[in-house]
Formats: sequence, C-alpha cells, structure tokens
Amino acid sequence: MDKALDGVRILDMTHVQAGPSATQLMAWLGADVIKVELPGRGDITRSQLRDVPNADSLYFTMLNSNKRSLTLNMKTPEGKALLEDLVQRCDVLVENFGPGVLDRAGFDWERLQTLNPRLIYASIKGFGPGPYADCKAYENVAQCMGGAASTTGTAEGAPTVTGAQIGDSGTGVHCVVGILAALLHREHSGRGQRVEVAMQDSVLNLCRVKLRDQQRLAAGPMREYPNKAFGDFVPRAGNASGGGQPGAALRCAPGGANDYVYVIVQPQGWEPLMRLCGREDLITHAQFATPEARLKCLDECFSIIEKWTRTRTKFEVMDALNEVDVPCGPILSMKDLIEDKSLYERGYLVELDHPERGQYVQLGCPITLSASPVEVERSPLLGEHTEEILDWLGRTPAQIEALRAAGAV
Ligand SMILES: CC(C)(COP(=O)(O)OP(=O)(O)OC[C@H]1O[C@@H](n2cnc3c(N)ncnc32)[C@H](O)[C@@H]1OP(=O)(O)O)[C@@H](O)C(=O)NCCC(=O)NCCS
Repeated sequence: MDKALDGVRILDMTHVQAGPSATQLMAWLGADVIKVELPGRGDITRSQLRDVPNADSLYFTMLNSNKRSLTLNMKTPEGKALLEDLVQRCDVLVENFGPGVLDRAGFDWERLQTLNPRLIYASIKGFGPGPYADCKAYENVAQCMGGAASTTGTAEGAPTVTGAQIGDSGTGVHCVVGILAALLHREHSGRGQRVEVAMQDSVLNLCRVKLRDQQRLAAGPMREYPNKAFGDFVPRAGNASGGGQPGAALRCAPGGANDYVYVIVQPQGWEPLMRLCGREDLITHAQFATPEARLKCLDECFSIIEKWTRTRTKFEVMDALNEVDVPCGPILSMKDLIEDKSLYERGYLVELDHPERGQYVQLGCPITLSASPVEVERSPLLGEHTEEILDWLGRTPAQIEALRAAGAV
C-alpha cells in the first residue's frame, strides 16, 4: 500500500523538539526526510539526557524515527553548494534555527525561491513579527508567553508549566498543517510558499478557552472556577474543568500519588452518580438537583462523590462510572502507560532495536490512515546516510572523500 506522503522529499534542518516532531510526523506519513546535521556533533539532543553512555539519547531517538541523516556544514563553501543541490531537489525545507540563522548562512527566502520556485519553506520560531521576533525560545518560554503557565496550577501556587509539550510538539503539529496545506496549494498554483509558525501563537491557540474566559470575566466571577476571589485576569483554576461541564480529580484507594480519577458531571450524570454514592436523597434535593444549583456548591458536590471514589481503585471507579455513562478518566502514570499491553497490541507503542542502545520503546504515529499504514523505524545514527545521499546528488567517491577532508560533511 502507498504511504500518504510517498514522493514528498523533505530537507529537514530542524533540531531539539519543535521541528523534529513535525518532520517525524511527515516521515511516518511516508515522506523521505533527510535530516541535515552538523558534522561531528549532530542534533544537540543526541547527547542530551543520555541514559546509555555514548549512545544516542532517548530524547533524540523518540523524535527522529523514520528519517535519514546527512552531515553537512552549511558554513563551508562545499557545504553551501551541497545545500543548494538539496534545495533544488526537495519539496519542503523545514527549519527551527534561532532567528536569522539561515539568512546569515546565505539562504534567505528570496534565494531559496530562486533556487527552487516549487519549494515550501517552513520555519518555526519562538515568536511572530513584533517585539520578540529576534528572541530564541524553548518549550517553557512558549508556555509562559502563550498563556499556559499563568492559567495552570492552583490559585495559591506559582505559575506552572504543563507536562504536555504544547510549545514544541504542539507547534510541530501546527507546522505540519501549514506544510500539507502548502503542498496541496502547490498542486494547482505550481508554486511553493513560505510557512511560518510561532510557538507563542501555537500555545495561545491551544489555550484559547482561557482567552474566552478572559472575556467572560467582564460578566463577573466564573462559577465553574474554584477560585474565591477574581482579579482582572483569568486565574489558575487547579483541576477545574475548562469546559461547560464541571469536573474534578478525586482521590481513590489505596491513596498513592496517582490514585485519582477525573470525574465529569454532565446534567444527566448527577442522578446515576448519586445512586452509586448511595445518596438518592440528593437527586431531587433543591441544593443539588439542577446544574445551576450545583454550580453554587461544586466543592460539596465533588466531596460527596469523593467519599465513594475513595473506597475503590481508580480502575474500579472507571468501570462503575462507564456502566452508567458518566465520563471519567483515571490518572495514568507514565509507568501505567508504558506497561499498557493494549497500546502495543494496536501498534501505538512499538519496541525497536537500535544498534547502539539496544531495544527501546517508541511512540508510533498518533494518526491512522486506512490506506496508508505507518511502519515505525528507528532513528538514524549521525551521518548514517551521508554517502548514499551524496551519491544520489551525483558526487563520486573521490569527491565524497574530498568533502570529508574539507569538513563539509
Ligand atoms: C532552540 C534554540 C533556542 C537553540 O539555540 P542555539 O542552540 O543557539 O541554536 P541556533 O539555532 O541559534 O544555531 C546555532 C548555530 O549553529 C549553527 N549550525 C546549526 N546547524 C549547522 C550546520 N549544519 N552547519 C553549520 N552551522 C550550523 C547555526 O548556523 C548557528 O550559528 P550562527 O549563530 O553563527 O549563525 C534556537 O534554535 C531557537 O530559538 N529556535 C527557534 C525556536 C524553537 O524551535 N525552539 C524550540 C526548540 S525545541
């Protein structure tokens, strides 16, 4: 069966997480992704957070599967010439260097368009045009400046960043959407275009319900928030649900760090919940009977339910609540997830062999296409495909030797 992106060639000049997460998605979907790396060092993450001495780190392997690796120093004349050839032969160039890096190397958008008018040139930066355009950014910088940190955590605590990498991988997903749209557009326009994605914008997009709430504040305190006092900005709301249905994380047996279940109380859920809790008396009780009435005493509502959840494990609670159609989610630790056999059975977690580090667990592609199955392959070693790519670019073995001697590859 064909891969969805068969025939699409991507010049991958990305590093760390934001860019590699985007090109990894496209590699899974079948694109030929050529990862360009600095000779001798490669993507900085190869050696960051190492768990096996001298082997590529999990940081790198988990963001770079299904790619080919080419070493190339774009600051040498020979490296620049190779890069020109690659630009002419690729459909998409993706980069997430610091602001101005590619321009300084002589590859600005004007030049790239001249080299290949069909090229799609995608860039990830921390910020869009404006006062921060020249600033570098990492995940937590984007979370702090995109509205996530100020709205995450508890009212009493400090601003908190989330474990989900919404600044890096979240931006990567936005970038892929832009590239795919540009590829589709090229089908009828015949021309490539520039795709620019800012981490701050992607985070704010993912926090749009909080921007909604900023505007709702004008109408007075928001009842579904647990906060007692409101200023003129959206407060940190702990584990309160961001949606129209109230929710809370409730303790379960036996009381460990992740023995919690998140329970959502839809209007129709109150009655079955109260039956399970043995509190039929509260089904028609004026203080609790309607969603509007419950909004005034959410803490009390959830502490009634918690009395019941504390007597069961999170999985028992899940079973019982699903039986009566009440949405809920046990809090799963990373240990719970990596040990979940069903994730392996459906190919979302995959065990891969790596020549340096042995076996490791890789997340597969989170998108399933019926006619284009994804085969997850290990990440490449540094420069593993340099020779085959240079050969494809028409360089002879003697020329390749000279390029190596010059430090260009
Ligand atoms: C992530 C980030 C902060 C890292 O900063 P950094 O480690 O200083 O790396 P930079 O991207 O600025 O590049 C550093 C240098 O390496 C050089 N370099 C990288 N790959 C190279 C190659 N193949 N050949 C020659 N030089 C190379 C660059 O040319 C640059 O040199 P210059 O500053 O003299 O032009 C920065 O890249 C950034 O802000 N990126 C955009 C936002 C982003 O994606 N952040 C999230 C990362 S997960």
